[in-house]
Amino acid sequence: MSQIRLGVNIDHVATVRNARGENYPSPLRAAITAQKFGAHSITIHLREDRRHIIDSDLRIIKSKLKIPLNLEIAATKEMLKIALKNKPSFICIVPEKRKEITTEGGLNLNHNRNFLKKLINKLKKNKSRVSLFIEPNIKDIEISKSLNADCVELHTGKICNLINKKKNYTKEFEKIKKAVVFGNNLGLEIHAGHGLNFRSAKILSKIKGIKEFNIGHFLIGESIFISLGSAIKKFKKILK
Ligand code: PXP
Repeated sequence: MSQIRLGVNIDHVATVRNARGENYPSPLRAAITAQKFGAHSITIHLREDRRHIIDSDLRIIKSKLKIPLNLEIAATKEMLKIALKNKPSFICIVPEKRKEITTEGGLNLNHNRNFLKKLINKLKKNKSRVSLFIEPNIKDIEISKSLNADCVELHTGKICNLINKKKNYTKEFEKIKKAVVFGNNLGLEIHAGHGLNFRSAKILSKIKGIKEFNIGHFLIGESIFISLGSAIKKFKKILK
């Protein structure tokens, strides 16, 4: 069985940096560290309000990274221009609302379909692989195919919430499974992301045909506890 690719989303390294207006922790350092430890790609979301990743992060990470950079953008003219200029290997089109804390659901594919189609074709001509972040349903997969996307990323927020709350997730699991089979049959590459932790990633990894998982918030949060002890030991040595 081939290994499922892991895309590491480092947005929240930038969140911590921006909280103090400092230049650390560095998203570039996080990207290089993730690369060193076997991440298959690095994901960053350049939001309209630049609340975490900023334009200079995109430029420097793109120039230093050896593994593919996956740039998440909203379907806007501004983001299209930035993506065309920076040419990331992968692009994921995501919905964006100013007041949301995180990307709350998949794209509304009934909205602005003509613009989306033009945007996808321009990005593909510019040699970026294009993915659409959608809800795991058959209709949105069909539309994604008709828009000429290379891949779809299925929003896993709902199943992750059910798993975290120890509720029955069978119906949502079957829905995702059906979406994966349907998408693969149409020739789309299927990815999954949002809200994943060790347990939900393990459960969803049982679905054959998901090629890539993109994981951020939990992974960055968990990293604190995996390395907090080492940082404390280092300070104790310094303070001897
Ligand atoms: N995939 C996409 C398209 C996203 O927009 C995000 C961030 O919302 C993620 C994956 C990662 O989600 P999380 O940070 O919850 O792991």
